Amino acid sequence: MNLYFPKGFLWGASTSAHQVEGNNQNDWSVWEKANAQRLASLNKNRKIEFPQARDPQNYISGRAADHYNRFRDDFQIASSMGHNAHRFSIEWSRIEPQEGVFDQREIDHYRKVISSLKEKNMKPLVTLWHWTLPIWLKDKGGLLNPEFPNYFSRYAQRMADEYHDLVSFWMTLNEPTSVISNAYIKGLWPPQKRNPIKALIASKNLAQAHKSAYKAIKRRDLNASVGVGHIMTMFCGVLSSLNIFNRMFLSLCGPENQDYISLQYYFSKGFRAQKFSDMGWPLHPEGIYPLLMKLKKYKKPIYITENGLVDADDLHRRWYIEETLKSVMSAIKEGVDVRGYFHWSLIDNFEWDKGFWPRFGLVEIDYKTLERKPRPSSDYYSKICKNNHL
Ligand code: BGC
Repeated sequence: MNLYFPKGFLWGASTSAHQVEGNNQNDWSVWEKANAQRLASLNKNRKIEFPQARDPQNYISGRAADHYNRFRDDFQIASSMGHNAHRFSIEWSRIEPQEGVFDQREIDHYRKVISSLKEKNMKPLVTLWHWTLPIWLKDKGGLLNPEFPNYFSRYAQRMADEYHDLVSFWMTLNEPTSVISNAYIKGLWPPQKRNPIKALIASKNLAQAHKSAYKAIKRRDLNASVGVGHIMTMFCGVLSSLNIFNRMFLSLCGPENQDYISLQYYFSKGFRAQKFSDMGWPLHPEGIYPLLMKLKKYKKPIYITENGLVDADDLHRRWYIEETLKSVMSAIKEGVDVRGYFHWSLIDNFEWDKGFWPRFGLVEIDYKTLERKPRPSSDYYSKICKNNHL
């Protein structure tokens, strides 16, 4: 039996600027250069199957997948795979390389990026902050600066002013909780400040930044749909009481300040997994169902804005997509208003402090030649996108 998705369902994939564009100058690019050697030595005795993990160069984003110059080719691939939507991020450090100075050339660049999607009938979902900061802002304390919400909303306002004629679907912040936990609780990511008070300040500033940016975008376009990207892990069995953390940031930003609810899901914890991603994440595609059921109460459209796995040999990706989408369909049948699915990721990319070896792409990148090669599972996903059914 064919399982049809609702009419107008959005099908696509996600990327983020720093992970694919290449040649960004921001807080991460500075940190990568200072930490590449250390990150490579951390991986010395692990990941034997990925020798790249021991090479310091693996940890420097450099030219990445050169998506900055090749976005048209990449969107052409996505379009030929039947995607009718695409999520990407604007790199704040390009737009505002110095405090209060906006770079018109970069503003024009992203207009070309958005127009290229529109020409291919792909709806753009534009993320304004996917974790990186301009260097001037890093130097002023980044997320901890009390002015952070004002800096961010000024930038958001400018982006809405520039692109409101082309974009109606926005994500202000991507997964704030991932940064809070990795930078300020675990101390692994820049600025590596392990301190619970700082974690609280960053959370408060990010929530306020979203609220101000939400207002700024809505002032320009009342009909725009604006949300925040939320990562959620399904905690099973004895861990189930931890599920409460999944919706903490959603509450902090206020559901009334989110026109849609985003869900970004990768794995569950507290169950016995049979399959693992190359990074060792336990694969449990069905875990998305209970998470979606919990989001029903907000009575808002829901978009799955990230979901995927590291699978260089493409062994599990097809199965993972199929099982995830079956679970999404079950939730839809239970009345959950899911309106779109964006796979992570369109192309292989730079996986933050893990660098280039983890392969998340529907499309493989040969980092020597920059050749793009769709993986076999992308055919399977493409059929779903084109037919709107499983
Ligand atoms: C992030 C991406 C990241 C992906 C896989 C999400 O948390 O938004 O930037 O690459 O997960 O780890």
